[in-house]
Formats: sequence, structure tokens, C-alpha cells
Amino acid sequence: MISPIHTVSAAEMQAGRSLAGALEDGAVLLFPDLDFPFSDFERRFVERPFADGKAKNVNIRGAGAELRGAAGSPEEQEALRQLLIRYRRFSEELIARVLPDYAGRISFAGTSYRPFEVDKRKMSWRRDDTRLHVDAFPSNPIGEKRILRVFRNINPSGLTRHWRVGEDFGAMADKFLPKLPGYSPLSARLLAALRITKARRSEYDHLMLHLHDALKQDETYQKDAPQAEVHFQPGQTWVTFSDLVMHGAMGGRYMLEQTAYLPVAAQADPDKSPQRILARKLGRPLR
Ligand SMILES: [Fe+2]
Repeated sequence: MISPIHTVSAAEMQAGRSLAGALEDGAVLLFPDLDFPFSDFERRFVERPFADGKAKNVNIRGAGAELRGAAGSPEEQEALRQLLIRYRRFSEELIARVLPDYAGRISFAGTSYRPFEVDKRKMSWRRDDTRLHVDAFPSNPIGEKRILRVFRNINPSGLTRHWRVGEDFGAMADKFLPKLPGYSPLSARLLAALRITKARRSEYDHLMLHLHDALKQDETYQKDAPQAEVHFQPGQTWVTFSDLVMHGAMGGRYMLEQTAYLPVAAQADPDKSPQRILARKLGRPLR
């Protein structure tokens, strides 16, 4: 029985206790009614997609918060950029409040606006995010960092964001780790030298990429593995480690998402990280 959702009531937020323990155990922290109002002008961003259609999402990155992938007039694009900057601040404040352990250690990366319906076309299995997976980035090695994400359903007409959430990371790793190809430090150096990766791909990155692929490719596992259906209502905000919690996005339209990175060493308990779980399963430190 999978029950990944930890609903955080207003009283629990008031109490000011850290939620790091639950989060690091693999919970999805759900905040049912945080305020993030849209102005009259901004409402257009949930009436039609302001996206150039070339990329899946529109996002801002870096200190300059440069907007990429957007469509609309210069005025509309600036308003969308400001909306994303506001969402980044909202996410920073939420993390500071409920995860004070991470203060000063967490770094906030891309912020995205996802106006399109979850893509359910028959695409390559590797890109199909309706299949249960853990997040891993082929060109952007993560090394000793965790991927923390803050999502918010901003759908204006009641449509939920529909996820599947999979079993415990360790139980999944027991099934798939024996099947993965070995790590080659030489080819990792080569990928970095050729700039195919932005930094050296560690053994951890190698394992996570292959887990991502092995999970998505296994039709039987996708169908029969322990899993739960979750529907996030419009106005709800949820926070999870997407490198630890197996998820598939089954449906929904209009969402905001903030990505943040946390060093493993900054966790309340680093032993709960996928880095340390995989090392324990292999019986040695990762290279
Ligand atoms: Fe994902």
C-alpha cells in the first residue's frame, strides 16, 4: 500500500516543525491552500498557452531570469517573466518556512510554466513521462546533489494534475540494480571532454540514468508494480524529491514548477539520499 501524500495543515505549518524527515523518507508534501493570486492581466496565462511550441515548457534560468520558450507581446512576456520570478520567491519562502534545516544550503535553479496538456502521444519510451520514473538529467550531472521540486496546479477550470507515484526507492533499486551496465570512468571523462555532459558524469549519475531508462522500458513493471494514483487539485502546491519519489505525470494542464538543488551533506539525514541508498545496495562507496 503506497500512501506518499503528507498533507500539511495550516496548524502544522503554524507549529513550525521541520518537515525534512518526512520529505527525505519519500513523502510528497501537499499544501492544500497556499495563496498565490493572479492579477487580472495574468489570468490570460491560464486561458491559452503563451509558449512558442518548440520546447515542452517556458522557463526562466539564472540570475538574470531570462525567459525562454515564451510567446506573446513584449508586455505579455515581461508579465509572464515576473509571474515566474514571483513563483520562485513563493517557493523560496515556502522551503524556508517548512524546511528550515536547508537554510543557506539550497540553490534555486529553473522555474517553469507548463501550459500544455501532459503529452500522451505515442512518443519514444525514454521521453514518455507518463511512465513511472525518477528524474535524471543526461547532459547535466547531479553528483552529490538532490533534486527538490515545488509544483503548483494553476488550472482555471477544475482540471486536476494526475500523477502516479511508485514504490519505495530501495525496493525499486533491489529489482533493477542487478540489471544495470557497469560504470566506466573513462567514458565519463570522454563525455565531459566532448561537452556532451556539462560536468563529469559520476557513477551515481550513470546509475540514475540507467534506472530512469530501465524503469520506463519495463512494461510489466509499469503495469504491475505497487503504485498509487494521486490527483492534485487547482490551487494545491506540492513539494517532493523527484530523484527519490517515482512518479509519472498522467494528465493535467497549466502548472508552475520550481527546481532546487540540495547537497546530500545538507540533508537532515544524508543516509536517506538515493546516493547513499545505492552505495549501501552495492556494498561500497560510489565512484
Ligand atoms: Fe519527472
